Amino acid sequence: MNFAVLASGNGSNLQAIINAAKKGRVRGKLKLVISDKADARALERARKAGVPKVLFVDPKGFPSREDYDDELVSLLRKEKVGLVVLAGFMRILSPVFVRAFRHKVINVHPALLPAFKGAHAVKDSLAYGVRVTGVTVHFVDEQVDHGAVIAQGAVEVKPKDTVETLSKRIHKMEHVLYPKVVDNFLRGKYKISGRIVKAK
Ligand code: GRF
Repeated sequence: MNFAVLASGNGSNLQAIINAAKKGRVRGKLKLVISDKADARALERARKAGVPKVLFVDPKGFPSREDYDDELVSLLRKEKVGLVVLAGFMRILSPVFVRAFRHKVINVHPALLPAFKGAHAVKDSLAYGVRVTGVTVHFVDEQVDHGAVIAQGAVEVKPKDTVETLSKRIHKMEHVLYPKVVDNFLRGKYKISGRIVKAK
């Protein structure tokens, strides 16, 4: 199965997926990487890894969110992708996109959803004083950080943790969990019914 990664930033999760694919642990073809940021390190990583298509698609070139998402949908369809992996893609996808790829878009979030949704999950978790946080991989639906949960991993919060130290351990967990989920999806392992995802 072909798949694509959408990323806005550093792209360490993209790198983890690329590395796993090189070792034969992600069994699919990464055809396309798209970023909404011209200077995303993720784009560099993708080019270096030899991903066939690596694109910066500038949101400024589109009159509305739906127009932008339409463009993404057509780029993804052209490459016949069966899975869209969000890896730090910092845009909310419109229903246009979600409907086009229903149950085919996954995201990784740095907290145990439904706790600490949003763009500052690690900071918010620390401020709340939780002792355990973690990583959630989930399907993307019309609401932010809301779709059915595919996998979670727990990370302990240490008394001296800062956003930086905790983020580092959360990233480590992401880099293990996310490539595994991508591989399982590509091999048709997930069955989804409502909010419940079962591994076949
Ligand atoms: C990750 O922490 C992920 O949970 C969140 O965005 C971050 C992306 O990091 N959605 P990177 O760009 O993959 O390094």
